[in-house]
Amino acid sequence: MTRRSVLQLIVIGAVAGALATVVALALPWLPHVASKEGERIDFVFWFVTWICIAVFAIVAAVLGTALLSFRVPLDDDQDGPPIHGHTKLEIWWTAIPAVLVTAISIVSAVVLAENGKATANPIRVNVYAQQFAWTFQYPGYKNVSLPNLYLEKGRSVELTLRSRDVIHSFWVPQFRQKQDLLPDQDTKLIITPTLTGEFPVICTELCGLGHAVMRTRAIVMTPDGFASYMTKATKPQKLSGLAIFAAQGCGSCHTLSAAKSSGVTGPDLDYLAAYAKRAGKPLDAFVRESILAPGAYIEPGCANTMPPNFKELIQPKQLDALVAYLVKNGTKTTAHKGCG
Ligand code: CUA
Repeated sequence: MTRRSVLQLIVIGAVAGALATVVALALPWLPHVASKEGERIDFVFWFVTWICIAVFAIVAAVLGTALLSFRVPLDDDQDGPPIHGHTKLEIWWTAIPAVLVTAISIVSAVVLAENGKATANPIRVNVYAQQFAWTFQYPGYKNVSLPNLYLEKGRSVELTLRSRDVIHSFWVPQFRQKQDLLPDQDTKLIITPTLTGEFPVICTELCGLGHAVMRTRAIVMTPDGFASYMTKATKPQKLSGLAIFAAQGCGSCHTLSAAKSSGVTGPDLDYLAAYAKRAGKPLDAFVRESILAPGAYIEPGCANTMPPNFKELIQPKQLDALVAYLVKNGTKTTAHKGCG
């Protein structure tokens, strides 16, 4: 190789590396990180990214130099020189990638192992997913069930996740990890939040008609804030239809003005009276039946994707309160298209 080719190699490599670095650093690829586990995952992400940038720069340099320095004239129809390999070069281009891939595996394995460890005294939460809502149950806090995931900054939470129907997947982008929820098997996930604030909980497994709206919030509080919230949440409360409506995630599929919900997967509950009339049943009995046996009457234009197991999820007294609440608020009788 001439001095000119070597110079070309260095210049092209430096320019390609600089361009790739700008693309990697200047664009906001990831939302800000809000957990210890997420910080470790970001470390792996950047570790791999820097290796990729270096490999890209080398490949671009060799390719560019080959194109520029070793081009033949247009009228050159001769065969190229016969080449029988280059043992030294082949050893290097096998050894270096092998070392890099091994390094990535080791770093990833260490991060996976670390991310499986909780801090002392973790909060335990049972996470239940069903079409199309999340429920978070706290065994250490009188088994209270909440529609949002409440967490404490700096204290690990150990999630035990299970689906009540099809496969769903738990994802908070700021915590980085994803975990599937299966109908017949528990899965686990540990999160140690590092920032207070509200973050979206997203279902990231296509699970049916309402998949896109299967969202709720992870709320990270200070230790004091969490303790006082839990004291309030575990106090025996008067059975409130609105609270049950919220805790059961009804609003993610149904519109109900009184509950300020705007789901469109299932019928608009403001018009329950109209549907009962169409079904030819008294409103109270109609609402009760629609919760316990959703397939009994299906509003024209709607698909029945309502979970069939509310009988097991709601205690009789809660059901009475929820039915009373819906009867009181679903009073519109004008003709109405039920879904969409
Ligand atoms: Cu649950 Cu998608």
